[in-house]
Amino acid sequence: MIGKQSRMFFLISLCGLMFAILLATWGIPKIVRSQIQKNVQIDPSSQMFDKWRKLPMPLTFKVYVFNVTNAEDISAGAKPELEEIGPYVYKQYRERTILGYGENDTVEYMLKKTFVFDQKETGSLSEDDEVTVINFTYMAALLQVQELMPGLVGMINGALGEMFTNLTDPFLRVKIKDLFFDGVHLNCVGENSALGLVCGKMKSDKPATMRPSEDGNGFYFSMFSHMNLTETGPYQMVRGTKNVQELGHIVSYKGKKEMKSWRDPYCNQLNGSDASVFPPVEDSPPKRLYSFEPEVCRSLYANLVGPATIFNMKAIYYEIGEEALAAKTANRDNKCFCRKNWSANHDGCLLMGVLNLEPCQGAPALATLPRFYLASEELLEYFAGGISPDKEKHNTYVYLDPITGVVLKGVRRLQFNIELRQMKGIPQLENVRTGVFPLLWIDEGAELPPEIQQELKQSHTLLGYVEMARWILLSIAILVLLASVVKLGRSGALPMWAKWARSGALPIVWATYKFCQFRTVSNW
Ligand SMILES: *[C@@H]1O[C@H](CO)[C@@H](O)[C@H](O)[C@H]1NC(C)=O
Ligand SMILES: *[C@@H]1O[C@H](CO)[C@@H](O)[C@H](O)[C@H]1NC(C)=O
Ligand SMILES: *[C@@H]1O[C@H](CO)[C@@H](O)[C@H](O)[C@H]1NC(C)=O
Ligand SMILES: *[C@@H]1O[C@H](CO)[C@@H](O)[C@H](O)[C@H]1NC(C)=O
Ligand SMILES: *[C@@H]1O[C@H](CO)[C@@H](O)[C@H](O)[C@H]1NC(C)=O
Ligand SMILES: *[C@@H]1O[C@H](CO)[C@@H](O)[C@H](O)[C@H]1NC(C)=O
Ligand SMILES: *[C@@H]1O[C@H](CO)[C@@H](O)[C@H](O)[C@H]1NC(C)=O
Repeated sequence: MIGKQSRMFFLISLCGLMFAILLATWGIPKIVRSQIQKNVQIDPSSQMFDKWRKLPMPLTFKVYVFNVTNAEDISAGAKPELEEIGPYVYKQYRERTILGYGENDTVEYMLKKTFVFDQKETGSLSEDDEVTVINFTYMAALLQVQELMPGLVGMINGALGEMFTNLTDPFLRVKIKDLFFDGVHLNCVGENSALGLVCGKMKSDKPATMRPSEDGNGFYFSMFSHMNLTETGPYQMVRGTKNVQELGHIVSYKGKKEMKSWRDPYCNQLNGSDASVFPPVEDSPPKRLYSFEPEVCRSLYANLVGPATIFNMKAIYYEIGEEALAAKTANRDNKCFCRKNWSANHDGCLLMGVLNLEPCQGAPALATLPRFYLASEELLEYFAGGISPDKEKHNTYVYLDPITGVVLKGVRRLQFNIELRQMKGIPQLENVRTGVFPLLWIDEGAELPPEIQQELKQSHTLLGYVEMARWILLSIAILVLLASVVKLGRSGALPMWAKWARSGALPIVWATYKFCQFRTVSNW
């Protein structure tokens, strides 16, 4: 009788253990995963949704300008001396307008950015500061003309003389405010027929940095005003309600599933997210984190560095690597980003670390990392000095929360350059040295504000409890089983095999526990 009872107890506790194992290794993780998915997916019911639609805090948009301090000497053939001025700090607000939900678990939206100057963060600098920078539009017009119709360069230069008043050197003296947002006026009214040609080309190409003036007689050139209050898109993004690992992937931009700028389908791929959301990376973070950057018409990626800690939280750290902007000799995959000859000195392709934006923006701009970080050292030799890169200041990186994929902190940095090219027959360019000339660089950063950090930490703590509950559940089941084994033993109802195994019971239970732990860790 007693033996029967304890055998019953043993059987029940064995079932209990199996149930506990099932729950701990499969049930609870599944529930937790689906809860996380519910919170991160792009759906009005999710916790992240409102923060994704309208960023609760502005990004910090900093601009550093390269002031030319020896303009006259450069015209005479000296190496450029540059003085980096900045940061000029802006707050960048981001808001998405949802156009609708589409096939294949996607959402379609427009993205609007608003820039507001932040005098407090800018400190003693002012938007009224005057700087001398490379005359971007002037160089752009001449480079394009030289490429299209080399014979006409001299004539075009005459036209530019009317367009740009007081043409003496390839530099522009300008207020920060005008260079960034308000615009520098370019005149399209004049006798010269070549002037019509240059203006006509601008009217048809519509470079983003050229805003037609209200009277229709010219243009305003500015680096960022086209980004202020203009909606870009539509973007089509995966919502992650079906497969959370697809969350945030950009499927199409402006209705196209790939870019048209580059030479082959590989480089034209839209890869990754818009850098606002990433899928939870769990225990197997991808080696590369892709983001699609419409400004440069391509996807870029950061490489996995490893686990890190930030804001007292565990994070996964990614950092931009050399290969993203490598020359084709160093990374064959980048071959299709080489489209046009951009310099008389180079072979129709990129130098290490330089991306030709002409196919993308319709203007011969060159993108690099700030101060030519991770780029060919040859580029630095062009300068008299003072612009050596520093990883800490010029790097691009992101810290992700591994559990939710939320960006804890991230910075994206990019420098815009144009070639200063020696051209015979153009008085302003007759004696200059040819090289890649920087104009400015931007530092666009975001970090999770403390309130949201708290929120995230709380949900992590909750997860910690759930995790603990799994092991408590398992331990209890094991203890009960052990108790039942002991009871069974005492009652003498132990079958022969069990008597023999009694001494081995503990190690077996321990081994089961280890096995389960391994299983859960490996697929968690
Ligand atoms: C930029 O350099 C010029 C000299 O080329 C100087 O006059 C000007 O004050 C500098 N601007 C700033 C903001 O330091
Ligand atoms: C949805 O996915 C299928 C298969 O991948 C594809 O053929 C179809 O074009 C997609 N639909 C849209 C609207 O993207
Ligand atoms: C962006 O546009 C808004 C509205 O026109 C304006 O108030 C703001 O000053 C602009 N930002 C900058 C930096 O010029
Ligand atoms: C052009 O230069 C001349 C002499 O250097 C000066 O008097 C004139 O004001 C300048 N014009 C403009 C529009 O800057
Ligand atoms: C540079 O461009 C501005 C207008 O964008 C013009 O006023 C200035 O004279 C130009 N200088 C040269 C050398 O092209
Ligand atoms: C796009 O992503 C795929 C898969 O992750 C990768 O193999 C490919 O190299 C990426 N393409 C580009 C242009 O980065
Ligand atoms: C680029 O220029 C070099 C020499 O200047 C020439 O040999 C090469 O064919 C050009 N490549 C392209 C793509 O135009």
